[in-house]
Amino acid sequence: MPRRGRLRLRFLLSAVLVLVLLAPLVLAQDRVETDINTNTWTVPTSAASSASATSLRSSATSLPRSSSSSSYRATSTSSTTTRSAHEVAPTVLLTDPGLTYNFTLNRTAPAFLARFANNITDRALGVILNIGQLGANDSEPLPKVIVTTEENYLPRDGRRSRTSGGSARTGYNIGQDNSWQIVWDNGFGNWTYGVDRSWNVARYSAVAPAILIGRGINDDIVLDPTLVGAGNVTVYLGYTVLDTPPGEHFDYTKVGGIDATHPYFGDSSATEALVFSPLRLVDKPPEPTYPNYTLPGAELPLPDFQAILNGSESTRNNTFLFGGRAQAVTFVVLPTSSTPSALSNSAAAIQEQVERLPSEDMPTLNVNGSAWTTVGGTAGFRDYAVFGNLKPSTNYTVWAVGADGITMSQPAWFTTKQASFNCPLLLPTSMCPGVAYASPLSDNPATLTSVPQPYADFIAASLRAFEVSVLSGACGRDRYSFISSCADCYAAYREWLCRLVLPQCAGDEVPFVDVDPRGPQAPFRLDRTLETPRNSNLSSETGPPTYPIDYVELMPCINTCTRVDQRCPSSLQWNCPRRHFNANESYAYVSDSNNRGDGSAHTGWAATDVYGNRWCNGL
Ligand SMILES: *[C@@H]1O[C@H](CO)[C@@H](O)[C@H](O)[C@H]1NC(C)=O
Ligand SMILES: *[C@@H]1O[C@H](CO)[C@@H](O)[C@H](O)[C@H]1NC(C)=O
Ligand SMILES: *[C@@H]1O[C@H](CO)[C@@H](O)[C@H](O)[C@H]1NC(C)=O
Ligand SMILES: *[C@@H]1O[C@H](CO)[C@@H](O)[C@H](O)[C@H]1NC(C)=O
Ligand SMILES: *[C@@H]1O[C@H](CO)[C@@H](O)[C@H](O)[C@H]1NC(C)=O
Ligand SMILES: *[C@@H]1O[C@H](CO)[C@@H](O)[C@H](O)[C@H]1NC(C)=O
Ligand SMILES: *[C@@H]1O[C@H](CO)[C@@H](O)[C@H](O)[C@H]1NC(C)=O
Ligand SMILES: *[C@@H]1O[C@H](CO)[C@@H](O)[C@H](O)[C@H]1NC(C)=O
Ligand SMILES: *[C@@H]1O[C@H](CO)[C@@H](O)[C@H](O)[C@H]1NC(C)=O
Ligand SMILES: *[C@@H]1O[C@H](CO)[C@@H](O)[C@H](O)[C@H]1NC(C)=O
Ligand SMILES: *[C@@H]1O[C@H](CO)[C@@H](O)[C@H](O)[C@H]1NC(C)=O
Ligand SMILES: *[C@@H]1O[C@H](CO)[C@@H](O)[C@H](O)[C@H]1NC(C)=O
Repeated sequence: MPRRGRLRLRFLLSAVLVLVLLAPLVLAQDRVETDINTNTWTVPTSAASSASATSLRSSATSLPRSSSSSSYRATSTSSTTTRSAHEVAPTVLLTDPGLTYNFTLNRTAPAFLARFANNITDRALGVILNIGQLGANDSEPLPKVIVTTEENYLPRDGRRSRTSGGSARTGYNIGQDNSWQIVWDNGFGNWTYGVDRSWNVARYSAVAPAILIGRGINDDIVLDPTLVGAGNVTVYLGYTVLDTPPGEHFDYTKVGGIDATHPYFGDSSATEALVFSPLRLVDKPPEPTYPNYTLPGAELPLPDFQAILNGSESTRNNTFLFGGRAQAVTFVVLPTSSTPSALSNSAAAIQEQVERLPSEDMPTLNVNGSAWTTVGGTAGFRDYAVFGNLKPSTNYTVWAVGADGITMSQPAWFTTKQASFNCPLLLPTSMCPGVAYASPLSDNPATLTSVPQPYADFIAASLRAFEVSVLSGACGRDRYSFISSCADCYAAYREWLCRLVLPQCAGDEVPFVDVDPRGPQAPFRLDRTLETPRNSNLSSETGPPTYPIDYVELMPCINTCTRVDQRCPSSLQWNCPRRHFNANESYAYVSDSNNRGDGSAHTGWAATDVYGNRWCNGL
């Protein structure tokens, strides 16, 4: 089974990455066929005869149409014929829809000029670039990419150019109205052209950009051999000629690229990790109303995600779009050390790493699916996956990749636990939809898909008892608070109960990354042995269940308790321990002020840092 998982992942990844780079090309083809007769592209005849031009800046706006020189000539100080990199770089024609163009840049071939074939003309264009590899080592300077359009396509026509780093007007336009330097965003670059101020496709046809891709290009756009660096840099290029008619909204979803979201990390064990997609659909259970005010019971009745998707999902306002569309995601997990952080947004770099990683080190996809959860603080559907075959105490990076094959998320990070860590991962359940972490519920390390019996029984009994107390109030008639209902109170209690009955296991100390010295610097950990289990306030006639293994508890954030206090009617007399008194025996918090450091982001320090480390168990 692990083996099959690996192969699937690899297959999927390569399929996905090929699509990321290739899909736009297919779109281009249709367009060319319909527009070829109305082609208004004008070819400047005045090709650069001025070999003495020192740079693009001073060589006026016209570009050389043909590559007069196919060999790289170094800048010579003794020569008066310093030539722009545009002139000396060999030209590569972008002609073939269905190809991803790759460029190897090194000392013998530091730069290329990519041009579109004459028959590819249109109104709006999207180019996507990825750096696959950065040269001799990851300290090598990034290659430069400079796009120049023909002189007759100026921004005054209403066209604009935008790149991953900014717009034409904010510093990436390199001196002339029709030249832009594409700014790399962690190995990813994009450039779109032909939209007006309202992001509609401009009512002017035909763009004819030339894309200079090179190393050692100095500020005057002249090749300087001393700046070329060592080794091979690879750059991948794919493009889309949009078939959106002029005047209509620019269709970004066809260009693809990096979505602003990132995966949500549940938790890890020594060799496994549970990861979630960005939210796909927000869906709260229906609010009960008087006179039939019923609470959901131990098992939340969950909506059928697949049925919602089959229905009119696109018309729902609560759907989260990934790359502009409602779509499922898969994940890619790699050791963080194998992908340079400077290339963490590059699908091509990820693919190169996947190919390079020895198969015995390849993470396996052990379990996956879609689930209604409250992880990350919002109720709704997410896709999830459990990856295995990970190494203990190792940093990993995870990306979500859209089913469309052209959208990738930002990276997220996590660290696996030490080899001796023995708590199994627990998936979110309809009983505890917020619990997605390692918990000491079994001495078998296999991932748990449901809450084991004694704990489930205890939680169900506690929920029933609480329900009776809550419903004895005036639920649904007399709101005790403008912001909370009995259902909110019950949900907050469920969250607290689940996190206390199903404690989260902490790993060896990994520093919590927070620049504020007043904030948490390390997880709040507490040793729990079979002899000294947590009991806190969880008493029942049979007593709370005990755990089959010794473990170190990651203490619950104090907001798991205070939230119940805030959301429940005062008649319930819920009391959380006080910070000045003994709260630190059972909860984690920072500072003595009740308004700060309870684990929520808005009170100072969120429970989790950017690397997926947690200082307390909570949202
Ligand atoms: C690079 O492009 C060449 C054709 O130009 C192709 O044969 C080769 O497979 C490509 N390499 C990669 C890694 O895509
Ligand atoms: C530069 O790259 C080209 C194409 O991959 C290759 O043929 C050549 O050997 C490389 N040169 C060096 C110095 O690595
Ligand atoms: C465009 O022209 C190139 C040659 O310049 C040719 O190889 C390609 O097939 C043409 N594409 C279309 C869609 O006609
Ligand atoms: C990276 O490679 C360059 C050129 O080979 C070298 O000068 C530099 O010291 C290397 N840096 C590291 C961190 O290895
Ligand atoms: C380019 O990519 C960035 C992410 O790096 C994205 O935010 C932006 O919307 C993209 N711009 C265009 C015009 O595609
Ligand atoms: C660059 O790549 C070429 C071909 O892919 C290879 O022959 C050459 O050795 C590489 N150069 C370096 C310095 O890695
Ligand atoms: C009360 O609501 C529950 C759940 O919403 C439903 O199952 C039940 O049939 C309702 N009872 C009445 C009397 O409407
Ligand atoms: C959703 O649609 C798919 C096929 O389109 C079908 O196989 C599946 O049974 C449907 N699921 C539900 C819950 O309607
Ligand atoms: C959903 O979107 C539609 C159209 O955009 C809007 O009319 C409606 O009020 C929205 N509904 C909710 C609940 O936000
Ligand atoms: C699980 O992963 C496989 C392979 O990546 C994919 O085909 C399938 O759709 C996924 N299932 C769910 C429910 O996400
Ligand atoms: C838990 O028990 C402590 C005493 O051990 C008490 O101070 C506190 O109020 C109780 N908390 C809850 C939520 O019942
Ligand atoms: C792993 O990530 C942590 C941040 O969580 C960082 O402090 C540590 O240096 C990383 N370790 C390695 C080997 O990169």
